[in-house]
Amino acid sequence: MGSGILVGNMLRPDILMLLLLFSLVCSAAASVTYDHRAIMINGQRRILISGSIHYPRSTPEMWPDLVQKAKEGGLDVIQTYVFWNGHEPSQGKYYFEDRYDLVKFIKLVQQAGLYVHLRIGPYVCAEWNFGGFPVWLKYVPGISFRTDNGPFKAAMQKFTEKIVSMMKAEKLFETQGGPIILSQIENEFGPVEWEIGAPGKAYTKWAAQMAVGLDTGVPWIMCKQEDAPDPVIDTCNGFYCENFKPNKDYKPKMWTENWTGWYTEFGGPVPHRPAEDLALSVVRFIQNGGSFVNYYMYHGGTNFGRTAGGPFIATSYDYDAPIDEYGLPREPKWGHLRDLHKAIKLCESALVSVDPTVTSLGNNQEAHVFKSKSGACSAFLANYDTKSSAKVSFGNAQYDLPAWSISILPDCKTVVFNTARLGAQSSQIKMTSVNSAFSWQSYNEETASADDDDATTMVGLWEQVNVTRDVTDYLWYLTDINIDPSEGFLKNGQSPLLTIYSAGHALHVFINGQLSGKYGSCKIMSSTTLIWLIHQLLILNAGTVYGGLENPKLTFSDYIKLGAGINKISLLSVAVGLPNVGTHFETWNAGVLGPVTLKGLNEGTRDLSKQKWSYKIGLKGEALSLHTVSGSSSVEWVKGSLVARKQPLTWYKATFSAPGGNEPLALDMNSMGKGQIWINGQSIGRHWPAYIARGGCGDCSYAGTYTDKKCRTNCGEASQRWYHVPRSWLNSGGNLLVVFDEWGGDPTGISLVKRTTGSVCADIFEGQPTLKSWDMLTSGKINRPKAHLWCPPGQKISQIKFASYGMPQGTCGSFREGSCHAHKSYDAAEKNCIGQESCSVTVAPEVFGGDPCPGNMKKFSVEAVCS
Ligand code: GAL
Repeated sequence: MGSGILVGNMLRPDILMLLLLFSLVCSAAASVTYDHRAIMINGQRRILISGSIHYPRSTPEMWPDLVQKAKEGGLDVIQTYVFWNGHEPSQGKYYFEDRYDLVKFIKLVQQAGLYVHLRIGPYVCAEWNFGGFPVWLKYVPGISFRTDNGPFKAAMQKFTEKIVSMMKAEKLFETQGGPIILSQIENEFGPVEWEIGAPGKAYTKWAAQMAVGLDTGVPWIMCKQEDAPDPVIDTCNGFYCENFKPNKDYKPKMWTENWTGWYTEFGGPVPHRPAEDLALSVVRFIQNGGSFVNYYMYHGGTNFGRTAGGPFIATSYDYDAPIDEYGLPREPKWGHLRDLHKAIKLCESALVSVDPTVTSLGNNQEAHVFKSKSGACSAFLANYDTKSSAKVSFGNAQYDLPAWSISILPDCKTVVFNTARLGAQSSQIKMTSVNSAFSWQSYNEETASADDDDATTMVGLWEQVNVTRDVTDYLWYLTDINIDPSEGFLKNGQSPLLTIYSAGHALHVFINGQLSGKYGSCKIMSSTTLIWLIHQLLILNAGTVYGGLENPKLTFSDYIKLGAGINKISLLSVAVGLPNVGTHFETWNAGVLGPVTLKGLNEGTRDLSKQKWSYKIGLKGEALSLHTVSGSSSVEWVKGSLVARKQPLTWYKATFSAPGGNEPLALDMNSMGKGQIWINGQSIGRHWPAYIARGGCGDCSYAGTYTDKKCRTNCGEASQRWYHVPRSWLNSGGNLLVVFDEWGGDPTGISLVKRTTGSVCADIFEGQPTLKSWDMLTSGKINRPKAHLWCPPGQKISQIKFASYGMPQGTCGSFREGSCHAHKSYDAAEKNCIGQESCSVTVAPEVFGGDPCPGNMKKFSVEAVCS
């Protein structure tokens, strides 16, 4: 035929080939839609398990392994925010390299066979500097953030369009054959809208319309946004979301942030969320009709550089996530959730086909049953009692439910998982020093003064970020005080009182070049001042004051030593991350805004606020780039016995060779005060081990409603002691470590440590449900649970530290024998495990030489040392 595409009756081979290729490419593309029950991929409803991994919070070298561990942990989706201030550091200048290589990250997720949920924001909150907004955005004329404001909407639209078109160009949306199945616009705007009213409502409508208009082909969601306009899906964030209902009954019930722990702030304890409760929260959501759960965070990672928000958010963003800051599975959380995901997937066909039927099984007990027309049946048996276990009847059988737990029965008969019974091992982490002491050199950062050539003089006190534009944490406020020789205090030996009000976040006060408080006299003093002064001395020295996350403001008030004539006042004001949450946080101030007063002069009190102040942005060492290899060689460093220790404003440098092995590395900074760390010019982040965690830490039971204040550690110790050093930042030869400390830390205490597993534990109840019960069902064998133990690659079990079959007590690291103990407990563990990388011990009486206490509920607890 004349068209030339047919040869006889057949398609021409080259055309056939082309069509084949086309269909291959297209077969990967799928539609993404939704209905009341679930997100549908190619028309098929799915139960989707998702986890947040924020690409700039790890290194590209870590990404493949993190994604792989997420896959092995049973995730279907990786969720990430897009970090605007990382991608557009100055207006119109974009950056998508290295840790900000978003396309590379998404393609890695795709290669692993997982989906992506892209939360473009571009407001992200996330404990990230300025909530993800670039600081230049604040200076766009007429702007007001996150409301019905022209300049803001224009900038937000431009960036959102930029990201969407980039994703389209790379064919990354699912409808193009890519992995992105969902996007998000804004982030938790609901509470702000509630506060600001009409302009907030208009902005919500605009944001939804703008996003939908970008025609990505996949659904948009808005989290914590009850009035999310159609077709945008409103979703839930929180520790629990079982009672959440989307705003239309044709939208699926989705949970965008199930908090796996909580963030650490400098000055706060470290939060932990028990794996049993996290698993329970997921099952409660699923049994109530939920079909999408995202763990925030699945890997929290590190706030490298100055990316931490807050203010006062710590450098570690570990979050007690299933994969820890260093990229290793956190056990038992990671393994317990992996088992949970397998159990949920066994129920998927029943779950997606119907809504649950709920029946009461007792005062605090319920069954949620999904029974489809085609005969599939899955059930969830819940016991909400926080103290007692319960025996319930369901179907034709009886089931034991531990306190605060849910059992999963994929066939409505066989229990394969209970949220409170850990099949996964737990582990004890060890931080072991890997280098001999660093050989330090030091360089003294000069105290700036008002007559410095590069200082800019202005009248009055200026807001810090308006001056620095956040290119540095540091701003010097410099002024002179002229003291007349006739001043009374010069003769009677008393000192005037300097009082400084600052909007935050930290302040070092230097009088005539000396950190105040070290040499000051304190003659006129009330008892409260005395208590305050003692407190200040205890937290290093009185010349330094700082706020906290709850209240970043601070007041300095101290008697200072002044002489006749000109006295130099040098205030180093330090920002510790810009706010990331709160209505119009872009208007919040930092720095010394006054008043600044001097009391005890002949004239009474002198107000220094309105006089001339000079400003210097940043430190001299920053201007010289002392953190880099070339910059650090531009000055003379002090060596040997003269190296500074416990001196404020000091730079330290040392070189070291990379340790062998592949265990993750960290710096132990416990002896230091506050400052920043760099390795080979890369910023590890802010350190502040001298900020001791205040608040309550205590016993923590998994049972009962979790809050971020419930299970915390580190009270009375540094909020953050260890600082992650990514292996990929090290050269095999020499490496340059630079530390700037503001506060007089002792660098001789710094060491490089490797993170290893000291020991691993299992804690398995007899008859405890396991996923094996499912396989056994078909083979007809009786299910007997096993304690599984494994050491990380390169380590083997060298010793059984504890083993008891009976009624042992305590937790991993502190197990002890209880009232009943089988005498062959150790033998069984030693026989199976010593010298092995992994081993298992069946939890049944004959393995341990017989039943030590018939009629009692027994378990096997074991702790094995990995070497
Ligand atoms: C949420 C927010 C997240 C993160 C979280 C706390 O409200 O959406 O971005 O800030 O709180 O870690």
